[in-house]
Amino acid sequence: MKAIVYREYGPPNVLKLEEVKKPSPKDDEVLIKVRAVSLNASDWELLTGKPAYARFRGVLKPRLTVLGSDVAGEVEAVGKSATKFKPGDQVFGDIFDRMGGFAEYVCAAEKSLVHKPSGMTFEVAATIPQGGCIALQGIRDKGRAQPGDKVLINGGGGSAGTVAIQIAKSLGAEVTGVDNTEKLDLMRSIGADHVVDYTQEDFTRNTQHYDLILDLKAYHPILDYRRALSSGGIYLMVGGSVALLFRALFLGALFSMIGSKKLRILGLKTNQDLADLIELIETGKVVPAIDKSYPLPEVAAALQYLGDGHAKGNVVISVDHS
Ligand SMILES: NC(=O)c1ccc[n+]([C@@H]2O[C@H](COP(=O)([O-])OP(=O)(O)OC[C@H]3O[C@@H](n4cnc5c(N)ncnc54)[C@H](OP(=O)(O)O)[C@@H]3O)[C@@H](O)[C@H]2O)c1
Repeated sequence: MKAIVYREYGPPNVLKLEEVKKPSPKDDEVLIKVRAVSLNASDWELLTGKPAYARFRGVLKPRLTVLGSDVAGEVEAVGKSATKFKPGDQVFGDIFDRMGGFAEYVCAAEKSLVHKPSGMTFEVAATIPQGGCIALQGIRDKGRAQPGDKVLINGGGGSAGTVAIQIAKSLGAEVTGVDNTEKLDLMRSIGADHVVDYTQEDFTRNTQHYDLILDLKAYHPILDYRRALSSGGIYLMVGGSVALLFRALFLGALFSMIGSKKLRILGLKTNQDLADLIELIETGKVVPAIDKSYPLPEVAAALQYLGDGHAKGNVVISVDHS
């Protein structure tokens, strides 16, 4: 089968289209004929080996040589003890624990997958798992957004951010989206009440205060975020450099003890909310934003587009088996 393989960290040109052995499912796994995979910031991080935490599976070179975690496709075979799915079922899920989605076939544990609704395309299903779960856990579960709350989403024009804006709006919040110039119109079009261009303006320095800040790309000292919170406000850091994540972990815990403002890291619970996300999409409360779709041989070009900061919402790889 064909797969996009890399054996060293680096820019997208380290990715090669290769013929590799088709995998066989272990007892608790299924073999998926991949139909679509969406790109996440984590694919870019694991490709380049930056930030440093992206090397957790291999300090000098990657141990998992095929990237791609948000997959949608058809079950082709099932392992001996797998009971949830049968061949022909259409499934999707986040397989970050093993990756391998940039390929014609991939194996995945049954527990990582759910049935894809028949009315949903493979491309839409592939956009849901990682970004959707970050958004729902950040805005609804950990952020506890309420009607009338002022919610800011830093990185609002990306995969998780575009879902987060729509969930916050559906909960009745007043939403500010922060991202680069190219993504301002998209954020407005999906409901953001206010937008901030991070290349022109530092939201932590304006006079606004927010009840919830969901930070998908942390760039500031934790005290700056604390200043931007309202009394009783919550700041959730999802991604950023290792130094900022450590500071959020330790200083955030300290500041959270001594005042009403809470500063925390959001640890993603993978695939936890797929049923809720399906419902949000089926009821029209969330419409996944798909910017571009590329064929499997063009994964490198797709990742370059993401890495260059052009991706508005999601970029999807469509896998053609004809
Ligand atoms: N905590 C966890 O357990 C966990 C698990 C999985 C993923 N993550 C993290 O989740 C985050 C979001 O993932 P994603 O797939 O939604 O990423 P994404 O699609 O790349 O979106 C991130 C967005 O943030 C924007 N951005 C970059 N620098 C910014 C800045 N200084 N201020 C405001 N916005 C900025 C990006 O724009 P540009 O195009 O200009 O860069 C992009 O639009 C990533 O940081 C990833 O590492 C965390």
